[in-house]
Amino acid sequence: MLPIRASVRQTPGYTPGEQPQTTDFIKLNTNENPYPPPASILAALEPELEKLRLYPDPVSRRLRQAAAETFGVQPEQILAGNGSDDILNIALRTFVDPGQTVGVLDLTYSLYQTLTAVHGAELEVIATNERFELSGPIISTAPLLFLASPNPPVGKHLNKDFLRATCARHPGIVLIDEAYIDFGDEDHWDLLAEFENAIISRTLSKSYSLAGMRVGFAIGAPALIREMDKVRDSYNLDRLAQALGTAALKARADFIPLWQKIRATRIRLSQGLTALGFEVLDSDSNFVLASPSWIPAPELYQKLKDRKILVRYFNHPRILNFVRITVGTDAEIDRLLAAVAELKG
Ligand SMILES: Cc1ncc(COP(=O)(O)O)c(C=O)c1O
Repeated sequence: MLPIRASVRQTPGYTPGEQPQTTDFIKLNTNENPYPPPASILAALEPELEKLRLYPDPVSRRLRQAAAETFGVQPEQILAGNGSDDILNIALRTFVDPGQTVGVLDLTYSLYQTLTAVHGAELEVIATNERFELSGPIISTAPLLFLASPNPPVGKHLNKDFLRATCARHPGIVLIDEAYIDFGDEDHWDLLAEFENAIISRTLSKSYSLAGMRVGFAIGAPALIREMDKVRDSYNLDRLAQALGTAALKARADFIPLWQKIRATRIRLSQGLTALGFEVLDSDSNFVLASPSWIPAPELYQKLKDRKILVRYFNHPRILNFVRITVGTDAEIDRLLAAVAELKG
């Protein structure tokens, strides 16, 4: 047998949403932003192109400075990552030994499980109520909790009081993954200020329309960030990602109207689906989880795909009759709703 670690051999790996190789699909399956970033920020790439033979800044200084200004913290409180997935991986390798446990909610972002398995750590699945919400503060001794708020695949914020009580009593690190934060009304800066064991992760993939660039952040106490910094790859962000990420953060004001537009479209999408006989769960994100009453969800997924509309279906026992739909442009959501209405007949 080849000398592969058992923890690697035994995991199927992460299953990302489909990225079709043709451009004729309406893509509502991977929570990307339907709007491109403002063209003005692309100018930041130009001066980097002639420097590509040189290594990038290993500590992403300018990007971290811009992030510090945007988030209202000090640069020493920020670690830059090659997407927030990189941050999750770094956190795992900084705070958890193989054989120890990682706490995640029953249901959440499935990458947490894959990273944990590959690391040779054990998953502690924390029960949620029938709405997939926390039913109280978490009682766990896991050295790391991965808690997304808003939490996919539903997209609702976790209860702040429960989160606060969890941070207060938890002996390990509480990593609050805020990938979708800009599409809702809350954030968790207050918890970061109150608790030294809290870390927030952010990404430019969703609200800043840069999923293809791979820029994420961990924000936390300098004593934690310093340790995480030892674990990351030596040049974990390339030159282009650092430059474009910096420009995007500085252009934050230009993105806010896009977030408002996505929120307005989310309401239209939810209302449209409800009128078409779906149960739509409340969302603070750029997607909704919805269950059709008149067709099995896998069939709906396939029939929409046949009509070149991609949504996400998860073969998970708790959401077997749900699809997750990313908020697209108004025109895309009109096409989706028209296709669903036609299927319903
Ligand atoms: C909760 C959550 N965290 C992190 C990510 C990954 O973000 P990034 O593109 O920054 O790696 C996703 C992507 O879908 C997500 O849903």
